[in-house]
Formats: sequence, C-alpha cells, structure tokens
Amino acid sequence: MNDAKHKILIVDDDTDLLRLLSMRLASAGYQVTSAENAEKALVQLAVIRPDLVITDLRMTGMDGMKLFEAIHQQHPALPVIILTAHGSIPQAVKAIERGVFNYLTKPLDGKVLIAHVQKALHVSAHRSEAESGSQDLEWRKEIITRSPLMEELLTQVRLVAASDVSVFIHGETGTGKELLARAIHRASARRRKPFTAVNCSVIPEPLFESELFGYRRGAFTGAVRNYQGLFQSAHEGTLFLDEIGDMPILFQPKLLRALQEKQVRSIGAVDVTPTDVRIVSASHRDLEGEMKAGRFRADLYYRLNVMTLEVPPLSKRREDIPVLAGHFLSRMAEENEKKIAGFSPEAMELLLAAPWPGNVRHLQNVVEHAVVLSTTPVISAGLIQNALRDKPEPLQSLDEARDRFEQTYLVQLLQMTQGNVKQAANLAKRNRTEFYKLLTRHKLIPSLFRSADEA
Ligand SMILES: Nc1ncnc2c1ncn2[C@@H]1O[C@H](COP(=O)(O)OP(=O)(O)OP(=O)(O)O)[C@@H](O)[C@H]1O
Ligand SMILES: [Mg+2]
Repeated sequence: MNDAKHKILIVDDDTDLLRLLSMRLASAGYQVTSAENAEKALVQLAVIRPDLVITDLRMTGMDGMKLFEAIHQQHPALPVIILTAHGSIPQAVKAIERGVFNYLTKPLDGKVLIAHVQKALHVSAHRSEAESGSQDLEWRKEIITRSPLMEELLTQVRLVAASDVSVFIHGETGTGKELLARAIHRASARRRKPFTAVNCSVIPEPLFESELFGYRRGAFTGAVRNYQGLFQSAHEGTLFLDEIGDMPILFQPKLLRALQEKQVRSIGAVDVTPTDVRIVSASHRDLEGEMKAGRFRADLYYRLNVMTLEVPPLSKRREDIPVLAGHFLSRMAEENEKKIAGFSPEAMELLLAAPWPGNVRHLQNVVEHAVVLSTTPVISAGLIQNALRDKPEPLQSLDEARDRFEQTYLVQLLQMTQGNVKQAANLAKRNRTEFYKLLTRHKLIPSLFRSADEA
C-alpha cells in the first residue's frame, strides 16, 4: 500500500502527459501537484513541500537539469526523477552522476513508474530520517520528558552543542544534570570521542592534580607507572566536571591555566601535552554565590560559565512525573521479572502531589522501592506512601551520608562485641584512641551495649 500522505510534484510542459501522469499517480494513492514549467515548479516546491519531484528533461525555459540543480541546492535529500525521450538517455545518465535519483524513458510504463516512485520515496524517507529524524533524536534518547520547560532546555542544548563553548549546568540534586551533560556531548561534533566524567566532590584535595593531569612513573612514592590523567583521557572529547562547586580553591588556578593554554603537564613530566577538551561543568550550588563568597575564583567562574543551562526541578514540571514513573516502573519490573501493570489512581495522585526534593532520582528510588515490595499487579497508594516516607532525606550531603554510615557501622560493631571497645576497634582496624574519638563524636556509650547480666 502506498502512503497517501506522500506528496509528488510533477513537472512537464506536455499538458496531456502531465494530466495522464497525475491520474496514474493519484490512483496509486499519492497526493499529486503538477506544474507545466520549471519556474512554476519552484514556487510550488516551497508551498507543498513534496517528497518527490518528477520532471521532464527537455522543457522550454528552464530545463529539467537546471530545475534539479535548483532543487538540489535547497533540498539535497529530496529525490528527483527525470523523464526523458529515448534520444536523450546519455544526458539522463549524466544527470544521475550529478545526483538525480533516477530517469525514466518515455513512453512511460505505468508499473515501472510506480515501482520507481516507491523506491525513491523509500530511500528519501531513510535519508531525511538520517539527516533530521532519528539521528537527531539519538542524542536525547535517554532524556524522558513531556515538559515544555525541558523541551526549551533541550533546544538550548542542541544549539550550544554545535559550538565548543564551556557550559555550566545548574540544577537541584537529581534533576538530570549528568544526563544533560552526556546529551551535550552526544549532540556535539565530539560525539565519537570520549566523554569523561569527574566528580569533584569525591576526589580528596591532594589528589586533584594527579587525577586530572596524571603523573609519570617515579614522580612520587607509589607512582609505579605512568598515569595519563582524566584531562588527557578526554582528549578531543568532553570533560564533565561534576560538582564543580566542590573543587578546592587551591586547585582552581591550575585548572584555569590548563584550559587557557590547552595543555597539561603531568606530575613529574618535563614536557606539556596539548589537550583539546570541551568543558561541561555542573553543580547544585549557586556558583555565582560561591564566587561572591570567595570560595570560587572569578576568573575560573567566567571561563566555565560561558553559557548556563538551568535544569528545572521536578516540582516545576509535574507533567513529567507520570512518564518518568511509568518508565522506571517498567524498567524495574523487567529487572525483577515482575508483572506489574502500573499504579493505582490513588498511588499516581500521591506521586503527582509529592514535593520531590530529590527530584528525578528521588522519584526513581520511590518507584523502584514500590516495585520491589509490590505483591499485586497494580502498585497501591500504601506502597507509595511508605516509599515516600522511607526516603526522608534524599538530599543528604556526602558528609551527612558518611556520618550516618559511620554511626550505623559503629553501632553494629558495638552490638556485635557487646560494647567491648578493644574488640570493636580491632574489627574496624583502628587503634583504641582513634576508636574512642569516633565513639565520642557519635555520642556512643559502649557500656550501654553490654548485656544486662554483665552490667
Ligand atoms: N529526564 C530524565 N529521563 C530519564 N531519567 C532521568 C531523567 N532525569 C534524571 N534521570 C535519572 O535520574 C537519576 C539522576 O540523574 P542525574 O545523575 O543526571 O542527576 P544530577 O542532576 O546529576 O544529580 P546530582 O546533583 O545528585 O548529581 C539518574 O538515574 C538519571 O538516569
Ligand atoms: Mg550528578
């Protein structure tokens, strides 16, 4: 069956043939527009935006070849079929070399005509998809959204990706900043080169230089082999500096220098190595505020922040909640081999109304939690309520999380050893003094863990 929506523009100064062709193609289900000369065809082209043009080669005024060239310049992917009399086949063959899709000789055979038309339309659909369709969407395929705010942001991403400017992504925790950074990389000309992510909040301060710039063997104790460093491993690609607000102020001038000079020097190296990276950075912090407070260098701030992208919190795009929830649900259900059809209306209401301080990641956690615990094919409001209550602190900082972990760990140790500090310290591989300090910091009293008969 032919797609009725396919539009064909036919051009021929022989009006009888034009009418015949129109009828034949229309009866095959195409939407046909005809023009009796090339000039008129060019006007029609802009109006009807055809999927295919069929034109006679010899016409008075502008001929078929000139028409093809005019079309080709504006719409390189639009296929053009040329009609030719027997005598001008060599010319038609030349035309193909110049990019004409195909030629047909008159008198035309109806079946052959339709076969060629189908083929041309098929190829053109794929070509235009490759040029503007699926490949276009490939870069954003991980980002699920139906929010106009996000669409606007993605338009900005697309534009900014085309250039090499430094981009700073600002947004609350869990809004999808890293996802966006990857999208920038994928939409850019660097897409086939590496995307290297560095989380500045987890690198201990003294290791920034070696992590980013690398080191040579023997540069310091423990440097048993050369290490390239993240800057060089991102060469010709994109370096994503996540949580840039946590970059130590003492390291900031070194980063700035590397960016300005487009080269890095590994620790212990004599020579510098040219490195070409595109920088995308991100933070949940207000970097401008950090700069004004003297915690972030102004020169680096301006260097990184040529363009700012603001990712809206989930609470400002609640229309994304059902699509994201559905996405996480089906992914989680599949991973757990569970047959879960969806959320009860009350459960969805809760999801839609929740405050989501931890944004998309928070929603993902809640849905995953509910899926794991669900015993019914429809997720109930109760499960969602529990899951929402269960994650009261999705916004914990690393320090808070570490603190909580440390405390839980210490409590476990004390329980296991029934308050025997020496044993507990041994298990934790800490000396007693250090261990006591930890206990004091967490206000833990060992004697409280001794069993009743001992106390
Ligand atoms: N629009 C989206 N579509 C699908 N998944 C998303 C979307 N936004 C975020 N996610 C998912 O949510 C989680 C958090 O996203 P991401 O790590 O990009 O956020 P972030 O802003 O970098 O968070 P943080 O500030 O905590 O580092 C990831 O698992 C990501 O895949
Ligand atoms: Mg992140």
